[in-house]
Formats: sequence, C-alpha cells, structure tokens
Amino acid sequence: METLVAPLNGHNTNLTDEGSRLKLQDTLRTAAESTETPHDTMLRLFNAPLQVAVVKAGIDLGLFNILTQSKTPVAVEQIAQDKGADPLFIGRLLRYLASIRLVEETSKDHFAANKSTIAMSDSRVQGAMNYTFNISGPAYQAFPKFCQDHNYQNRTGGKFPWHAGAQTDLDFFPWAKQNPEGLQWFQQLMSVPREGDWLDVVPMADVTEQVLAADPERTVFVDVGGSVGHQCARLTTKLPQLKGHVVLQDLKETIDNVPAIDGVQAMAHDFFTPEPVKGARCYYLCTVLHDWDDEKAIEILKNLIPALGPDSQILIDDMALPNTGVHWWSACLDLHMYTMLGAMERNEDQWHALLDKAGLKALSIETYSPTMRHSIITAVPK
Ligand SMILES: C[S@@+](CC[C@H](N)C(=O)[O-])C[C@H]1O[C@@H](n2cnc3c(N)ncnc32)[C@H](O)[C@@H]1O
Repeated sequence: METLVAPLNGHNTNLTDEGSRLKLQDTLRTAAESTETPHDTMLRLFNAPLQVAVVKAGIDLGLFNILTQSKTPVAVEQIAQDKGADPLFIGRLLRYLASIRLVEETSKDHFAANKSTIAMSDSRVQGAMNYTFNISGPAYQAFPKFCQDHNYQNRTGGKFPWHAGAQTDLDFFPWAKQNPEGLQWFQQLMSVPREGDWLDVVPMADVTEQVLAADPERTVFVDVGGSVGHQCARLTTKLPQLKGHVVLQDLKETIDNVPAIDGVQAMAHDFFTPEPVKGARCYYLCTVLHDWDDEKAIEILKNLIPALGPDSQILIDDMALPNTGVHWWSACLDLHMYTMLGAMERNEDQWHALLDKAGLKALSIETYSPTMRHSIITAVPK
C-alpha cells in the first residue's frame, strides 16, 4: 500500500520490477484521465507537441545541465546573465518546464533540478530528444497525409513519411551516413539503457565456458548491427572472460566513430552481404530486424546462415508483442518504425512466419521484460 500511495505524495516508489512499475504508472495515468473533462483531454493533447519543442530549447540553452550541476537553486537572473538572454524569457521557459514537472520551482524566479531534470541532462537522452525533434518530428507531421495518400494501406518498400518529413529521396540509414549530426543523435538514442536485461534469459557465462573449453580461440559473440558497441561493452564488463571473443559489426560510418572497447574487435560490415565471421557461437541482432520489412529482414537472416557452425545460434533481441493489450510504448515504437522505415514490431506468430521464410526455426522465444515484451528469439536452421 505504501508503494501505491508514495507517488501520490510525490515520493519515489523504488519499484524495481518493470511489470509492477509500468502497471502502476498506467493505473495512475488512467485514474488521472478518468477525471478529465473533454476540455481537459483537449488541453493534454494540445500541450503534447509543445513539450518536445521547449525541451529542445532547454537542451540547446543548457538549462537542464545548469540546474543539475548546481547544488543550490539557480536564479533566473543568473542564467539570463550567463547566457546573454532576457530574464523575462528565461523565466517563462522555466515556468513552463516546472509546470510539466521537468524542473522544480523553489521560490519566485528560482529553480532547481528534480529527478527528471537529471535525466534530461544525460547526453544520451539529449541526443534522443534531438533525434525526435529534428528527425522523427518532421516525419510525424507528414504521417497523416501519407496515410491518406496511400489509402491507409500497410505499405512496405518505397517511400515513407520519413522521406516527406526530411525532404529526401534517401532512406534513413543512407541519409544518416551523410549527416553525421543526425547519426550521432541516433547513436545516442540507441545508447540509452533499455528495459530489462537479455542476460537474464541467455546463460552467457555457461555458454562462454563451454565454448572456450572446447576451442579457446573461437569467437563467441558477434553483435550484428551493434551500433557503437554499448551491448558489447556491457557484456565484456559483466563477463570479462569474453574479452577477445567478441566482434562488433556495423556500417563503416558507425564503426569509424567507435571508441576502442577492451577485448572487442570492431569490424565494418554491411549485413546485406554474407557474414564474414564464420562459426561463431552467437550472432546477436538487437533491435535490428524491427528496422526492416519482411523481405529485407529475410535477406539479413539469410546472409547469416552460411556462416553458422553446427552449434551456432542466431539471437534476435526484439519485441515479441502479445496479441492484445500492447503497451503504449511498444505500440508507439511500432508506428515509429513504420513512419521512419516502413518496418514494424512483430508478434510471436509473425516472428515464426518470418523465420520460416528465411529457412530458420525458433528454438525458443524468451521474454525478459514482461510489459514491453523485449525478448530473445533463438533461431537455428530448419
Ligand atoms: C536500431 S539500431 C540498433 C543498434 C544496436 N543493435 C542496439 O541495440 O542499440 C540498428 C543498427 O543497424 C545498423 N545498420 C543499418 N543498416 C546496416 C547495414 N546495412 N549493415 C550493418 N548495419 C546496419 C545501424 O547503423 C544501427 O546501428
């Protein structure tokens, strides 16, 4: 009961398990929304687009970092002076951010950091906000007309709202190759720690021990499309015995910017070409296949098959959605994938069908975040 009423009093609940925490959030949101008049509902949605815009301005100005770094409340006058800005305007920005609980108003014209301010001062979160404001935001603006123009068909291939929003003919990843700032925001977004830990359902310590006992030189883990290597770094930190047996692969533009990770070999590789590392124990694809429609996802998987040894496994780390009651974030990510890439989040039936078409079968689908449904789908040749 204490846990339930704590957030009503503005206290941290310390709920650690994802299922209970998200259930509590949704219950409280539903309760708050049940009190809304039609006018309140309209106001809530009217406010939504402005939030990201003001947060973006706050990031550009360094507001979240200034408040987070200060041990005492900061005067509006001080920030305005340091930034050469108008105190009246800085006060209006901070007043708005306090009203949506992203900063704390401590007294007249004085503000301090709260938990959300600290979150917004993280460079990875700032990259994610820059991504959503500059990159997915314009694509969302193009979404309704795109759907209307295409008669609300579930399109794969061709152009998506992304192209109209960014006014480009390039698909997102080729565009990112030519736009280093956009690529960096995307990489920062990818680096924000996600819900759950896939190592809870894959016994990597045991796997590593068995593999290296039989062949001390063997590659144990290939992170295919692994971005800047945050998963590899986490893995080798948790299991140092894996050092020297992990390969990180991504596009050259990304690999060129990867800081050296102890015990991890970084390799430029396009996953639409045959996998060059042969006979590794695990080929791991984390939130890679959800970027692609079935045709392209099958191509990626088929490029792995010739590299597989007798006991190799493909570990797909993606959402495996339930048939009903999808969490709002999973449903959001699904439409985000459609908007940006013409892709989708898949349910279990869709995963089985996809693997079958690629010449693979699922040995297991193990969910490690019960609400978001992040899961490890272990696949081997049929
Ligand atoms: C959604 S991100 C996932 C990154 C990482 N696995 C993670 O979980 O954070 C998809 C990754 O696929 C990479 N990618 C896109 N096209 C690729 C290609 N043709 N070959 C290799 N990697 C590619 C992107 O650069 C990006 O890092």
